Amino acid sequence: MVACSSNAAVTTPQSTVVVETLTTTPTYATEVQPLFIQHCVSCHSGIAPGGGYRMESYEQVMTSGANTPNVVAGDLNSNLLRMLRGETISAGGQMPPDALLSPQEIAIIVRWVETGAQP
Ligand code: HEC
Repeated sequence: MVACSSNAAVTTPQSTVVVETLTTTPTYATEVQPLFIQHCVSCHSGIAPGGGYRMESYEQVMTSGANTPNVVAGDLNSNLLRMLRGETISAGGQMPPDALLSPQEIAIIVRWVETGAQP
């Protein structure tokens, strides 16, 4: 007898971004913070950060925002990743709003969360 469970409920993300698979363990300090500074901090700092979400430090990335937590270590459906992949969710639309990061940049951030969102 073969137990055959149906996975019919699995939904396919609308994103067309192909994210490559990395085998490294990126850390916030070395690989991720520079990407956030380059692409996110301009809107996610100051008096009125987007969604109340501040991205200037590890602590802020992990704990701030109207929809916190936006990053959950190990959770590939974290808000931040879904928005990076171009999804629109209750926390907002794709991030950055004007153009997605490159597949290589997204892969680094996805891998960072997957491997435990190390500081
Ligand atoms: C041009 C400004 C802008 C840039 C650049 C930007 N964001 Fe946003 N972000 C917003 C705004 C505004 C919101 C509030 C929700 C909305 O209006 O869509 C938001 C909301 C969010 C939220 C949800 C916060 C919460 O708790 O509700 C996350 C997560 C997020 N952004 C991640 C990012 C990441 C990651 C980047 C860089 C890759 C980025 N954003 C770049 C403007 C920006």
